[in-house]
Amino acid sequence: MPPDRSQRRALALVAPFFRRHWLRLTLGLVALLGVDFLQLLIPRVIKLAVDALGKGAATRQSLLGQGGLVIVLALGIAALRFAWRSLVLVFSRHLETGLRQRLLGHVLTLDRAFFQHQTTGEIMALSGNDLNAVQMACGMGLVAATDAVVMTLAALACMAYISPRLTVVAVLPMPLLVLSTGRLSARLHHRFKRVQEQFSRLTEFARSGLAAIRLVKSCTQETAQARHFDRLGQAYIRDNMRVAMLQGTIFPLSRLVGNLSLLLVLYGGGRLTVTGAITVGDFVAFSTYLYMLTWPMMAMGWVTTLFQRGLTSLARLNEVLTASPILTEPQERTPLPAPLDRLALRSLSFTYPGRDTAVLHDLSVEFRVGLTGIVGPTGSGKSTLCQLLARLYPVADDTLFAGGVDANRLGIGALRDQIAYVPQEVTLFSDTIAANISMGRPEARREEIEAVARAVAMDREIAAMPGGFATRIGEKGTRLSGGQRQRLALARALILDRPVLILDDTLAGVDQETEQRIINAIRPYLTNRICIIASHRLAPLADADEILVLDHGRLAARGPHARLLEENDFYTTIYRHQTAAGRDAQEEG
Ligand SMILES: Nc1ncnc2c1ncn2[C@@H]1O[C@H](COP(=O)(O)OP(=O)(O)O)[C@@H](O)[C@H]1O
Ligand SMILES: [Mg+2]
Repeated sequence: MPPDRSQRRALALVAPFFRRHWLRLTLGLVALLGVDFLQLLIPRVIKLAVDALGKGAATRQSLLGQGGLVIVLALGIAALRFAWRSLVLVFSRHLETGLRQRLLGHVLTLDRAFFQHQTTGEIMALSGNDLNAVQMACGMGLVAATDAVVMTLAALACMAYISPRLTVVAVLPMPLLVLSTGRLSARLHHRFKRVQEQFSRLTEFARSGLAAIRLVKSCTQETAQARHFDRLGQAYIRDNMRVAMLQGTIFPLSRLVGNLSLLLVLYGGGRLTVTGAITVGDFVAFSTYLYMLTWPMMAMGWVTTLFQRGLTSLARLNEVLTASPILTEPQERTPLPAPLDRLALRSLSFTYPGRDTAVLHDLSVEFRVGLTGIVGPTGSGKSTLCQLLARLYPVADDTLFAGGVDANRLGIGALRDQIAYVPQEVTLFSDTIAANISMGRPEARREEIEAVARAVAMDREIAAMPGGFATRIGEKGTRLSGGQRQRLALARALILDRPVLILDDTLAGVDQETEQRIINAIRPYLTNRICIIASHRLAPLADADEILVLDHGRLAARGPHARLLEENDFYTTIYRHQTAAGRDAQEEG
């Protein structure tokens, strides 16, 4: 089946690799042709031997000589085979590695919108299974296809040289094969697509299950998970079986056609030999060539499969490689005003990409140097606002301003470089404590790392760990508590020392007392910059310069703590509730 449009576009992905490795490929091809040529010589030698035997002219010496020649030819074939295999395999591995680097490099440029519909498992499957299919098609597939075509033509030519009429008779059944494999391979393509998609699902399920293994155990869902995994595996087998059934039809079909030809040759060729039109040696050589034809015939089926598979996978890869980030760099970047001393929203509304209801409505606020708090119940839009300020989602023109300039006219990276943002959900790397803290500034000195650890009240806890700052955390290391994780993330932001600091409910995992202690300790870091702290607790924001109260994505009230407490019922109710709860907890403690 000829490639469809998306597949043709995907082919452009591999073209540069062919250009870069043309010499290696050409040499490989030459070696391959050498193999074919030597292979075709063997029946000629056998013909000589058989004809000599038939005439009674064969001597011990001539037979030994011909046998020796066959061995020399076989040795040549072996050496050339080794040559083309290593040349072509090296090429296909280069191709695979190059595409993998491109894939992962590109995935890193994409943003949240992409990762919301593409699972990690899918990306893993692409970089494993699919890339392997492409590698196979461009390496072995290409070689086998060239080989099959060359061998077919050459064997046919040799056969025609012996007897054109017999050759016509021998190839009579071949169109049958071409027709049937053509139809079957169209179906193969669809079935392959399903296999690859199913494999993605399988990978993602395994990945997410392993990542949440403790949760799975605590819910005693191991058996259920295993069963579900088993079902996915069964579906994968079923899809593969459907492919195998088609492949299994193509192979025997070509065998059958081959044998049909043999029947015709035995009958027709036998008669020609009897009448003396061709020699016995010719007849033997002819049958050998015919036998040589069966391999390319079978290879065609296999190669079609490889190509189908490779094309399907290449199109899947291309889909990811052509995905572009939703946040795009402006054509002309306005330089960032320095120092960055204000961020502003003007009638900002926001809807998540792909959704249809807005989560933020008509917000107009200015954030100045000093501490601004954002409070509001869960779901009121605090995290969304923080993410917009951190430039993680696109905003409409003239709604978000940095230093008086529309953020859409500033380079995204340049603006993000000014912002230290701690997301609500902390991510740590399987690395040392020190490396996790200095992640955004790998060159940070030891004293700086220790200073921020002190500021987030973690110095003593770290000192008590087996390796201190060199303690490894994460999957293969020490497990940290939720509060510890959040404080590490906070330390990571503090060490960046940037003009804007955004903390999204960062201290939700520690008790109120520790929270207050941390807020006091990081106070030196909060001066002289724009600090925005979202929190569902009000107490730590009591001395903020201004507090924004969000309710259902709208600005319900704003002002300093004391004024809100006097004037705003909504705020007062939450405050009373929280302080009462805090007192109760303290009394109990
Ligand atoms: N990635 C997302 N895609 C679509 N909707 C989202 C996404 N994240 C949050 N929301 C929705 O936006 C609203 C505000 O959520 P959020 O900003 O997390 O509030 P808060 O941080 O105040 O709890 C909620 O209705 C939530 O369901
Ligand atoms: Mg939130």
